[in-house]
Amino acid sequence: PKDVGILALEVYFPAQYVDQEELERFDGVEAGKYTRGLGQKQMGFCAAHEDINSLCLTVVQRLVERGRLSWDAIGRLEVGTETVIDKSKAVKTVLMQLFHDSGNTDVEGIDTTNACYGGTASLFNAASWVESSAWDGRYAVVVCGDIAVYATGNARPTGGAGAIAMLVGPNAPLVLERGLRGTHMEHAYDFYKPNLSSEYPVVDGQLSIQCYLRALDRCYAVYRRKAETQWQQAGIQRPFTLDEFKYIIFHTPFCKLVQKSVGRLLLNDFLASPNPDTASGLYKGLQSFRGVKLEDTYTSKEVEKAFQTASQDIFNQKTKPSLLLSSRNGNMYTPSMYGCLASLLSQCSARDLAGSRIGAFSYGSGLAASMFSFRVSQDAAPGSPLDKLVSSLADLPARLDARKRVAPQDFAEIMKRREETHHLADHAPHGSQADLFPGTWYLTKVDSKYRRQYARK
Ligand code: ACO
Repeated sequence: PKDVGILALEVYFPAQYVDQEELERFDGVEAGKYTRGLGQKQMGFCAAHEDINSLCLTVVQRLVERGRLSWDAIGRLEVGTETVIDKSKAVKTVLMQLFHDSGNTDVEGIDTTNACYGGTASLFNAASWVESSAWDGRYAVVVCGDIAVYATGNARPTGGAGAIAMLVGPNAPLVLERGLRGTHMEHAYDFYKPNLSSEYPVVDGQLSIQCYLRALDRCYAVYRRKAETQWQQAGIQRPFTLDEFKYIIFHTPFCKLVQKSVGRLLLNDFLASPNPDTASGLYKGLQSFRGVKLEDTYTSKEVEKAFQTASQDIFNQKTKPSLLLSSRNGNMYTPSMYGCLASLLSQCSARDLAGSRIGAFSYGSGLAASMFSFRVSQDAAPGSPLDKLVSSLADLPARLDARKRVAPQDFAEIMKRREETHHLADHAPHGSQADLFPGTWYLTKVDSKYRRQYARK
């Protein structure tokens, strides 16, 4: 099969949010810390009657219904999540309820977990299946979802929730570029969930940011080397720079980190360039940073500021349009980077996108990270697969606007209620149907044997 990649993409986020300015006041922090400091506007959250299974049920059903697909046409379904509610039973098996009436049980794939990286691991698996001898000609579906909640304190405003489902197959408008992947994995305790009775992670925020930026450096170095090797094989000798990406999307814990990451990539280009012009243009005035070593700069405010300023236009053009969902719904964990992809598609026209290369950086604490890229198809004509994909996401801003704003006090109470009840057996979870979008699955009951029952609004 040729041009394996993403054919369709579906987004689900909660129908309620808390405003970050109001949250600053409620938390008693300085005005501007969450908004200007972290770059966040709003944060979506779920009441106790939504869990990881309901999120994934909703988004997969929406993908199939809106795409007018048949449940028989899916031969693989993978789930990437770090919201673990059962140490044995996978979310994937719960999703098989959706296939019940079709009789299709021949569906490979199961859950993958490592912090925010599971969606990317699932996407790579799904694409590999389509390219392999095991492929039976049907579609693969990748679903990633999480409920990102933190204990009260400085990490709480970086939460979020949501799920994304992607249809994967050949002749896709967003093609996963072959051979162009840079991965970095190492052992780190930057963010992890060792307490299985709590929904909250243990997080070392500053360490997690350093780990993220180091992984970005390493992945970019490997990605770049592979791209240059491909060129050399074609007889082309030139360095890879950010110019090769028309757009760049990132795993987005909070938007400010992504803006800094664009600066970080520019620093990488600057240090790799044999003879950068520091008298004019992009690198003007950066001469004094010529001798710095990447590994010494993770905490340098001076380097960060200089390269953030120098990369401002690059950020505005290549990355800012991808931050719609991240800024208004928060960090969804595994779907975060795919939410950036959806945002980019909703903010650009098919003609802008056609033929471009989109660089993608996925990060999961612990840690697992990859940089890879999508090549967008050339055909942007009305009715083309690219045009259909872009049109299907055009209503994203309107859907965000349709959510309900909840006061921080009520948000805090709902978080408390989740804490107290999320692990209980024999109870009916708290939450109102009125606070859900039509078509949303929700949890109606957990019985005495912890079996969960769901209904659809
Ligand atoms: N006006 C404007 N900016 C302000 C204000 C203000 N009044 N007050 C603070 N700021 C700025 C700070 O200067 C800082 O920006 P800078 O880093 O560019 O200087 C920013 O706001 C945040 O302030 P900090 O004091 O650094 O925030 P704190 O340490 O309390 O918390 C953190 C931030 C560590 C990100 C925390 O929210 C956290 O732990 N989040 C979860 C971990 C995370 O997301 N890690 C990222 C990768 S791993 C993952 O995806 C889960």
